[in-house]
Amino acid sequence: MANPKIAVFASGTGSNYNAIMHAIECKELHAEVALLVSDQPTAKVLEKAEKYETETFVFQPKDYPNKASFESAILQALQHAQVEWLVLAGYMRLVGKTLLEHYEGKIINIHPSLLPAFPGLDAIGQAFQAGVKVSGVTIHFVDEGMDTGSIIAQHPVLIEEGMSRDDLQTAIQKVEHSLYPKTIQQLIN
Ligand code: GAR
Repeated sequence: MANPKIAVFASGTGSNYNAIMHAIECKELHAEVALLVSDQPTAKVLEKAEKYETETFVFQPKDYPNKASFESAILQALQHAQVEWLVLAGYMRLVGKTLLEHYEGKIINIHPSLLPAFPGLDAIGQAFQAGVKVSGVTIHFVDEGMDTGSIIAQHPVLIEEGMSRDDLQTAIQKVEHSLYPKTIQQLIN
């Protein structure tokens, strides 16, 4: 049977996209990334997508009258690529009705904190500022809220004495890069 087709949504560096592609190459993840969707035409993730020859759909929300209209354009690209699962990896935008209705129960997100603590932007900075001793990574289903969907997997990261914000980011991303491919594999197969 053919591997399930997924689309990765990313707005930034793309280290999680990279980890997913690496897991596919190593045959730890049996999936095909049929599309990379980005709302940032200058995002670093697009250079990585070029290297892996992943097809891309790049858009700028300002070129559309509203969310429904840019999500309809995304939907068309997803359907053309026969995508079954949407994997958000640093896509810093709330998913709207158009995509939620078509991909119900098939959209997941990774977030760099132990939700429900520290939702939204700069979760790593929020945890660092709060002085918590444990943070971590959450993978969850996406609903209309901000990082509110039901939780699929979590992994803690200890914040040791003397750790900087950058150290915490490095530790969290290390966990993300192994937890995301593993969790995707469990879900889609
Ligand atoms: C990741 O740390 C991810 O958890 C976070 O954005 C980063 C993207 O990094 N996502 C969120 O904060 C979502 N609320 P990457 O571009 O290197 O994969």
